Amino acid sequence: MNHVDILLGLQWGDEGKGKIVDVLTRQYDLIARFQGGPNAGHTLEFEGHKHVLHTIPSGIFHSEAMNVVGNGVVIDPVIFCREIEELKKIEPACVDRLVISRKAHLILPTHRLLDAASEQAKGKYKIGSTLKGIGPTYMDKTGRNGLRVGDIEMDDFNDRYNQLKEKHQRMLASFGADEVSKEMESGWMKAIEQMRGMHLVDSEEFVHSALEKEKKILAEGAQGALLDIDFGTYPFVTSSTTTAAGACTGLGIAPNRIGKVFGIFKAYCTRVGSGPFPSELLDETGEMLREAGREFGSTTGRPRRCGWLDLPALRYAIKINGVTELIMMKADVLDTLDQIGVCTAYTYKGKKVSHLPYRVEEDWVQPIYEMLPGWKTELTGMTEKEALPAALTDYIKFIEEFVGIPVSMVSVGPDRTQTIRL
Ligand code: GDP
Ligand code: IMO
Ligand code: MG
Repeated sequence: MNHVDILLGLQWGDEGKGKIVDVLTRQYDLIARFQGGPNAGHTLEFEGHKHVLHTIPSGIFHSEAMNVVGNGVVIDPVIFCREIEELKKIEPACVDRLVISRKAHLILPTHRLLDAASEQAKGKYKIGSTLKGIGPTYMDKTGRNGLRVGDIEMDDFNDRYNQLKEKHQRMLASFGADEVSKEMESGWMKAIEQMRGMHLVDSEEFVHSALEKEKKILAEGAQGALLDIDFGTYPFVTSSTTTAAGACTGLGIAPNRIGKVFGIFKAYCTRVGSGPFPSELLDETGEMLREAGREFGSTTGRPRRCGWLDLPALRYAIKINGVTELIMMKADVLDTLDQIGVCTAYTYKGKKVSHLPYRVEEDWVQPIYEMLPGWKTELTGMTEKEALPAALTDYIKFIEEFVGIPVSMVSVGPDRTQTIRL
């Protein structure tokens, strides 16, 4: 039987997962999202166009591949239908290549309101959530109150919706927040009606039947390891398992069915929202990375915080995900730098440590950097590994030696074609 390969982010999200899934899709028959929801924004660029996907897997532009929205994903019907309408303008047939798990949970309008109310109540301790209702929806899932896609095919759907809505309204009242508006509800119900006409499936059966037919499957992660609910910088994390284990629970595949694990990381580091970021640069270099890397959120437009590559954090992410090969993104953003910093250890409670400690807030952890020479060469037009400057191959070698895993690809621009296999 075939194995399922996984592609996931190793930092705080936005590593460039969408681009690489698109690049790799030619080698796969099925692309499956396994967690997260419209908090994700996966960007693909080809033939002069840019597309940002939130819930739909990044294999959707390839006519031979099927795309699965797995049970571990949370879906906002309004955002989902809008995304489909946009795609249909480009290629009407793309919806025929999309199936949705009946076990995926639904984001209600009140989940979004609760997300906003909870963030407001937290004040300066807010998570900096994308305000898409992710946290409250996963809370209802684990609290066993959630509504699932399969429920929209049942006769008692409206009753169950109203019951959950009423519970949310009481919670909103306790926050002193407004109730859900009639417009929000009617837009949501209209999208639910649209979803009833979509290809809803028992996705675990769908995936297993594909495996039995020797189809090649790639599981697409959202967010990144450092936003994982268990292993991320808690509580400044998202509410799902963003690591490889999430592909098992989010698709219904057993651990012994996992094949390759592609770990995506930027040649530097970014984070959007609140929470600790030991190697953050609050100076003009950080500003330069933001400008050169166009580091503004694909979902919210917020400026991303930027800093140097954090190698102990990368090694940690590789370990908990079982990464078998690395893909380094956005190397071109560092083109103009004389020297490039990499964090190789931290000072923690006055001692040098080379692992990611329990607390990484700046009053606990200070990064220790090594400065490596920059390549001072424009990478963007390069297509062959032989053309890469020596300082870049040395930079990659330094990373590989530190983490013990090979870098198999380097990305030198946002376009599909700007990808070099090593
Ligand atoms: P994802 O969430 O992991 O899919 O990543 P995002 O799409 O949120 O953010 C990555 C951003 O970097 C997008 O705007 C991409 O178009 C862009 N991008 C991806 N790879 C590269 C690269 O190698 N170089 C540059 N300059 N931009 C890239
Ligand atoms: P992709 O898949 C970057 C961050 C938010 C916030 C925290 C919790 O595009 O890499 P949530 O809305 O999930 O409750 O927010 O997680 N976050 C992301 N940051 N990329 C993402 O997705 C993210 N999804 C959530 O900014 O700090
Ligand atoms: Mg993104």
